Amino acid sequence: MNLKVPALETLDLKGRRVLLRVDFNVPLGETGEIGDDTRIRRALPTLRAVQAAGGQPILLSHLGRPGGEVVETLRLDGVGRRLAELFESPVEKLDESVGAEVSKAIDAAAPGTVMLLENVRFHPGETLGDPDLAAQFARLGDVFVNDAFGTSHRDHASVAGLARVLPSAAGELLQAELAAFERILDDPARPLVAILGGAKVSDKLTVIDALLDKVDAILVGGGMAYTFLAAEGECVGDSLLQTDQFDSLRAARKKAERLGVRLCLPVDHVVASGFSKDADLRTVEQIPEGWMALDIGPRTAELYSAEIAAARSVVWNGPMGVFEWESFQAGTETVGRAVASSEAYTVVGGGDSVAAVEQFGLSLGIDHISTGGGASLELLEGRELPGIAALLCYDDPR
Ligand code: 3PG
Repeated sequence: MNLKVPALETLDLKGRRVLLRVDFNVPLGETGEIGDDTRIRRALPTLRAVQAAGGQPILLSHLGRPGGEVVETLRLDGVGRRLAELFESPVEKLDESVGAEVSKAIDAAAPGTVMLLENVRFHPGETLGDPDLAAQFARLGDVFVNDAFGTSHRDHASVAGLARVLPSAAGELLQAELAAFERILDDPARPLVAILGGAKVSDKLTVIDALLDKVDAILVGGGMAYTFLAAEGECVGDSLLQTDQFDSLRAARKKAERLGVRLCLPVDHVVASGFSKDADLRTVEQIPEGWMALDIGPRTAELYSAEIAAARSVVWNGPMGVFEWESFQAGTETVGRAVASSEAYTVVGGGDSVAAVEQFGLSLGIDHISTGGGASLELLEGRELPGIAALLCYDDPR
């Protein structure tokens, strides 16, 4: 996989209008307030670098999935205000992302002004990767910088489309993300251990298959573990189950055996009488009929922690249980603590595991916390990300 992209410094930014694609797709609360501003914070180094190099930053982002029309609650005004606070400098937020008014505002802006265009997904052409829309964006700038790692798996007009038509480079966040995944996927320090969790095994099947070729061990937790256990003939009671995945999981087990990869499943469980945070609970080795497993048990957490302690590279995607509920958080917390205290190179990706790392105050112990959910999974699957591939293919017409 080629993850070598042109760095920001390869572009001459002095006096140039820099179209900077960021991923400000932040979680919004019920009243539209920003739940977590990590993605805005992580864009600041590139913004500073563009300004320091004498460029005029013009930011583009999406927010949510407005489906190609204007959705008032998905305007970027709140994001712009938060950006201005964090950047400690005014941000000029525009109400459109293309057109004559936008061009006029950009022309009239004082040099160095940070400008934020409106949600690019208000245009249907954005998610269709429409070259006409990409050309309209391109007219607003001289060069393109992609710093939206979280959206780089999308072949969208403001992501891959712009990179195809303007001199382009990767921002600092994008470069850091790619370097982290490259360190895991390309000749990692061994043993390399992957920790995979989350609800549905179907979401992770291709990741499991791809990682089996690379890792020394996979530690499985979360709802997906129970489909694995059921496929191997264990009683899983009322636990989450995807019976249509049994054949694929048996094939994964065979592949692991053939390659000598340890594919570890939970050996004990915290089970509940129902899917509720106040349900009756027990710790068991065999899941009784009528009960559902909502967390890995303490012995599993200990075994997994030992695997992590012996690793020299660790990648973690997906929680070990329903960590949002106190009764079922111990497995995710123990595994998270093992990752954070490990001497291995550690990468955490995926919204839920990143949220868990933050909830348990473990961020400082992790080498790289990814801002990408789907994008990081696609990298682990070994897929080429269109937004990255496009950075390599600009054909200068001059
Ligand atoms: C994300 O949050 O994963 C990115 O911003 C991409 O969003 P999308 O899944 O709506 O394309």
